[in-house]
Amino acid sequence: MKLTLKIWRQENANAKGKMVTYPIDGIEDDMSFLEMLDVLNEELIAKGDDPVEFDHDCREGICGACSLQINGEPHGPDRLVTTCQLHMRKFKDGDTIVIEPFRATAFPVIKDLIVDRSSFDRIQHAGGYISVNTSGNTIDANSIPVNKHDADDSFAAATCIGCGACVAACKNASAMLFTSAKVSQYALLPQGQVEAVERVENMVRQMDLEGFGNCTNTGACEIECPKGISLENIARMNREYLSATAKG
Ligand code: SF4
Ligand code: FES
Repeated sequence: MKLTLKIWRQENANAKGKMVTYPIDGIEDDMSFLEMLDVLNEELIAKGDDPVEFDHDCREGICGACSLQINGEPHGPDRLVTTCQLHMRKFKDGDTIVIEPFRATAFPVIKDLIVDRSSFDRIQHAGGYISVNTSGNTIDANSIPVNKHDADDSFAAATCIGCGACVAACKNASAMLFTSAKVSQYALLPQGQVEAVERVENMVRQMDLEGFGNCTNTGACEIECPKGISLENIARMNREYLSATAKG
């Protein structure tokens, strides 16, 4: 395949960025999107040019690092896949592909296609933990009965990889889907009840402090989420928050 790539280039966080056009040839259907960018970077390096910086680690849909806005969609045109799992067979010979970083005030660009998502880490730190008695009286987790339906919903929420596609998809740059997944995975389990009130209050407060927008129920986040995190988690987080504030 021959393609035209239009890629956001930005030297550093303070520089003014711009779209740069790169023609590329010899791209195979079976290549992943990141492998296609590897081909481009090898060509740029061979010419003595600065390679395009992009984030990646596992390249198998686990770490959430590979966050690219591709033709206006977080993680590109496929569904339930991350950018590293997106294959070039989703494009056709002669296509122009526009590649940008995830756009949100709370995700400032570091360089080219890499954004700083440490705002997500700070939301996690505000409440993404449970207290366990390690004094010798620790209760074996397997001896605590958990309703199967709740266990399944908790596990589904825990599959959120913190990629930020939900924020990039939202016209308000809301982080409600991410935060609600992190609240839900504990709210559904007995182990999460000890800090339930502080958790939801602290995580929502941190989310607001980071500058994420409000949720207006457009549902774009759920559509673009590579892990299929459900909007039901947002409804659950709202119930948890109301209940926490009522308890004062
Ligand atoms: S909710 Fe989905 S889109 Fe948002 S950070 Fe988690 S995995 Fe990514
Ligand atoms: S590189 Fe880890 S999810 Fe894509």
